[in-house]
Amino acid sequence: MKYTEVESCRVCGGNDFSDRLDLGEQPPANAFSMTPFEIPKLPLRLMQCGDCGLVQIGHVADCSELFSRYSFLTSSSSRMAAHFASLMQQATSRHVPYGGLVVEIGSNDGTALASITRRDVRKLGVDPAQNIAAVARERGIETRVEFFCEESAGAIIREHGQASLIVACNVLGHIHEVSSVIAGVDLLLTPGGAFVFEVPYVCEMVTNTEFDTIYHEHLSYFGIGPLARLLEKHGLRLSKIEPQDVHGGTIRCTATRNGNACDLSTWIQREREMDWSGFASRSNGIRHNLHEWLVDLADEGMTVCGYGAPAKGTVMLNYCGIGEDLLPFVVDSTPLKQSSRVPGTGQLILSPDAITGMPLDAILILAWNHAGEIAAKEPGRSFATPQQFE
Ligand code: TYD
Ligand code: ZN
Repeated sequence: MKYTEVESCRVCGGNDFSDRLDLGEQPPANAFSMTPFEIPKLPLRLMQCGDCGLVQIGHVADCSELFSRYSFLTSSSSRMAAHFASLMQQATSRHVPYGGLVVEIGSNDGTALASITRRDVRKLGVDPAQNIAAVARERGIETRVEFFCEESAGAIIREHGQASLIVACNVLGHIHEVSSVIAGVDLLLTPGGAFVFEVPYVCEMVTNTEFDTIYHEHLSYFGIGPLARLLEKHGLRLSKIEPQDVHGGTIRCTATRNGNACDLSTWIQREREMDWSGFASRSNGIRHNLHEWLVDLADEGMTVCGYGAPAKGTVMLNYCGIGEDLLPFVVDSTPLKQSSRVPGTGQLILSPDAITGMPLDAILILAWNHAGEIAAKEPGRSFATPQQFE
């Protein structure tokens, strides 16, 4: 797999980086369809720009390979589906006039757009993953299979006119040419329109030791400081920042052209005070203690499995060196992932039905951001999440 080393910051162009965490060589975290031990590994290193403060990884893999087939369906989590439905309801009622257009960048299987109940609103999805866009189209959501950029914004305007609302959830961090995305948003948005987006918040990642959210598809780990700088270049200002209790600490941001900029100083102060050495030592703590715990369970002849095969599970298992000897298999509700194996560590992925009635001494929840939903599906089981091994 081809990759390039990052030489300048994608927000400010600076080249003065500090190293924050080295995760060694890792396979692409979502490469479930490939032969698990033959997957090439690439360096995975987190660093921070000394100028604008953007936290980013040091190596960018060829994204067409990473995104042309994607296996997570938003609809497979009822909690996330409900979260996006409420975002769409709120944002359409605030920002979309009668007959207005809503464009979702990274529309996945169309779950969020499909949840818009207003009949007068026109909907358009944009997503580069062909197999998943096909699912969206089947349910009647018009979807363009492409990476959103200035050029696609122009094409959308020619076909549909400008958009009153542009939504992008968990997208900005995935895109190398993020500046071109914001330029496209600027073009596509009506003068009074709103750009509503969600990103995992970098301070939460650091505070909660979520190092497993670092993988090759996540190029940038945003704070408000770098976001404001990126938006400003294209005449957009943050007018609202709302913390969300999903994905281990997400922020929902609203950017408009002429809205009052909200007070950013408390956010930026918190970003300046992030404790990186604590983050690195707690990450190493999890690596050591989780591994030890599984070794002890194996020594005692206990049975354990993983729950969820999210990308972050791939990072966790690879970083901690947990192979099939310590964790024999994992279960995941995504049909596209079942029967394949975890990249790099090789665990077979089974349907959750496989553990119905199976005695298990412990379940390690790799999809810890869905822990509540998962625990409710397996009453009476004993659960662990990686973060408790700090
Ligand atoms: P996701 O939260 O998207 O994590 P990442 O961005 O790190 O890939 O993925 C969650 C995974 O967990 C997904 O593969 C589906 C799986 N899952 C279950 O198997 N059962 C469940 O009840 C839920 C909510 C998720
Ligand atoms: Zn920078």
